[in-house]
Amino acid sequence: MDGIQILIVDYGSQYTLVIGRTLRELGVRSIILPSEKAEIWLKENNPKSVILSGSNWSVYSENAPKLPASLDTSGAKYVVLGICYGMQLLAYTLGGNVDRPLGHREYGPAKVKLKTSHPLFIGVAKETEVWASHGDTVTKIPEGFESIAISEGIAGMTDKNNRVLGVQFHPEVTDTKEGKKILQNFINLAHCVKDWDPKDLIVEMEEEVKRIVGEKNKVVLGVSGGVDSTVLAGILAPALGERLVCLAIDTGGLREGEMEELKKNVTSAGVKKISIVDAKADFLENIGKTIDAEEKREKFREVYKKVFEAEILKHKAKFIAQGTLATDIIESGQVGESAMIKTHHNVGLGFEVDDLHPLRHLFKYEVRELGKTLGLPESVYNRAPFPGPGLYLRVVGTPVDAEKMALVREADAKVREILVRHNLDKQISQLIVAMLGINSVGVKGDERVYGHSLAVRAVQTVDFMTAKGYHFPPEVADEITSALIKHKDIVRVFFDMTPKPPATTEFE
Ligand code: XMP
Repeated sequence: MDGIQILIVDYGSQYTLVIGRTLRELGVRSIILPSEKAEIWLKENNPKSVILSGSNWSVYSENAPKLPASLDTSGAKYVVLGICYGMQLLAYTLGGNVDRPLGHREYGPAKVKLKTSHPLFIGVAKETEVWASHGDTVTKIPEGFESIAISEGIAGMTDKNNRVLGVQFHPEVTDTKEGKKILQNFINLAHCVKDWDPKDLIVEMEEEVKRIVGEKNKVVLGVSGGVDSTVLAGILAPALGERLVCLAIDTGGLREGEMEELKKNVTSAGVKKISIVDAKADFLENIGKTIDAEEKREKFREVYKKVFEAEILKHKAKFIAQGTLATDIIESGQVGESAMIKTHHNVGLGFEVDDLHPLRHLFKYEVRELGKTLGLPESVYNRAPFPGPGLYLRVVGTPVDAEKMALVREADAKVREILVRHNLDKQISQLIVAMLGINSVGVKGDERVYGHSLAVRAVQTVDFMTAKGYHFPPEVADEITSALIKHKDIVRVFFDMTPKPPATTEFE
């Protein structure tokens, strides 16, 4: 479970996530990282294969992303597969040539002739339909390589040992008729073993936790009612029984009705007793001291840690468990020395007791599948995420106080109600309604007001590493605006469709 077998280097192709998903459908997990992070990850991990994704870049563009500097292009350490730009980058870097001989972009279905004796194409028709999307093409393959696929130009290449490969087309998209077979062949070539079976993973995690925790020790698990901690509760409850203490902290950052929802969700995971601690006043006082996003998280963490420690003492627990995901760890800069993007509230808290993060290798969509396998209600395993520091991150650029928290709570509830009524809640991955601390002038009745603005943002994403800004239908945007400006202090409503990157999901 620990070692991810396939690294996908993301050069920005719209199909990169599809590569990951298709591999998972074939039973193998992978990690997707941009080139710079891949470089750091490679130094600390031993994958069996590295896939280089497609891209809109040309290898000749000034700032075109390169191969990770430490990538082993000899094929000795792992099997390398370049897809589209990935193949061009390999060919170009290894002394081949890349050009634009067609003078136009090849986009859409294309026919390729394959050398079917090559292990990558075993069982695939000699002439097959593929999906291609590229302007540049490899016109000369590097020395020691041979061509294994032809369309209007070279559409595939391999080194002598079948360890460094490239295809110009996209095997991951369904329009490539036999793409899945090609990726299965690739998995076989790299000797990857199946490591994605939700049932096995659940058993593995239960056993891992039992082994670490022992027969007598107690574990405090922080529960938020969200998919990660509820799934973890569902895994730990049968393994630990009464020795699992589920701690729900009322931070004051919860949305309307969320504590009730939390209790319902955690109970559905088989938890009999929840310990609820009301720490609203402490959180509000501490966080209200700053408007800086990172300091706010730090202040949140201080109180969070204190509450946890009190609970550990109370129950004489020897461990704590949290639903930390791979994304939290990557984004908190814990992958090698990668740049810290945001301090996630549950990473690196440094408790005196041991800290268990059984979901640390998983992505959100994988945890959702575990939830489904555990038999949790769909409302739990498909629940939109919500940040641990909650609504405190939704009062932006102005000190948090009880009144502003009440305002964003009410605004969030209103927008959520509108989305549910229009049946749009299922189309979006997360909704953010934030108060912006920049006053602007407006007029209400006949009076001038100098009040706040609200920003409404919804995103669509698979793994929250990247996200698309959602465009609300105009009539729904109007309805949201009129509902929100009813509040006396709100003068304007902005809609934010900026993608991630550069804009993160949350404003802070
Ligand atoms: P960003 O804003 O980084 O968020 O694109 C990605 C996902 O993580 C959630 N998020 C957090 N979750 N503690 C959490 O538990 C945090 O400190 C935190 N910050 C962001 C965010 O809501 C989104 O779902």
